[in-house]
Amino acid sequence: MIKINGVTKVYDTHHILKGISLEVTKGEIIAILGKSGCGKSTLLKIVGGFETSSTGEVIVNDVAVTEPTKKCIMLMQSYGLLPWRSVEKNISLPLEQHTALTVEQQQQRIAHYMQLVQLTPYATHYPHQLSGGMQQRVAIARALALQPEAILLDEPFAALDTFTRYFLQDELIKIQQQESTTIMLVTHDIDEAIYLADKIIILAEGEIAKEITIALPKPRDRSNADFQHYREVIFTEFELTQQQMIDYQI
Ligand SMILES: Nc1ncnc2c1ncn2[C@@H]1O[C@H](COP(=O)(O)OP(=O)(O)OP(=O)(O)O)[C@@H](O)[C@H]1O
Ligand SMILES: [Mg+2]
Repeated sequence: MIKINGVTKVYDTHHILKGISLEVTKGEIIAILGKSGCGKSTLLKIVGGFETSSTGEVIVNDVAVTEPTKKCIMLMQSYGLLPWRSVEKNISLPLEQHTALTVEQQQQRIAHYMQLVQLTPYATHYPHQLSGGMQQRVAIARALALQPEAILLDEPFAALDTFTRYFLQDELIKIQQQESTTIMLVTHDIDEAIYLADKIIILAEGEIAKEITIALPKPRDRSNADFQHYREVIFTEFELTQQQMIDYQI
């Protein structure tokens, strides 16, 4: 469904991406791991049509990406909420241009996704009245409400407490399985990558350093020995001890 063919990106004279090729099939979850500044967000923005590649191309459903589309929604690292709109009005924003839905259908969807991220009591609150994690949940609900074919998530759960994060990870898997949504997810959280992804891509120095297929059934058990095995594979790839990973915030 998503084909990344030899994508490079040069900012000024810096070669950020040096030739990334990757295929994501429909309904697959791909997680991208890598150190801060290695180009993860840049790659996602190119796939989402928010940034152009220097060379190479991205094809989504047989069409070359030249601009953002509703089929492939990107959830940015910054939440991008409109401060003058309430929670429900932020979620409704992209749906308002969705001519296939009646106003009633729009309202049902907004209510459903607001409930999912547990923000129904805050429907009329404005972003400045919310915590960082709550703002992040509004952004997640807004992206999911469009029910896109593919969703690009840039550290979507980073500002959330552990329990909310686990809850939303499970919800994401449920939605993904119901709708066969294709997901590309950037994360610094190795456990999150192993929990969610069918395949993990490790980016280093502008290239794919390793692809790891996670062959475990879902939902996965974080305390399982196989889970631990994948953790070790990834630590080894980064040539780091567990303590160093924590120190470097990978
Ligand atoms: N618009 C831009 N102009 C110039 N340089 C940029 C631009 N956007 C990103 N860069 C540079 O590209 C590199 C990769 O940035 P990117 O945001 O993709 O990193 P990242 O892997 O997502 O990092 P993090 O984990 O910290 O979010 C960085 O060195 C950054 O300074
Ligand atoms: Mg980033």
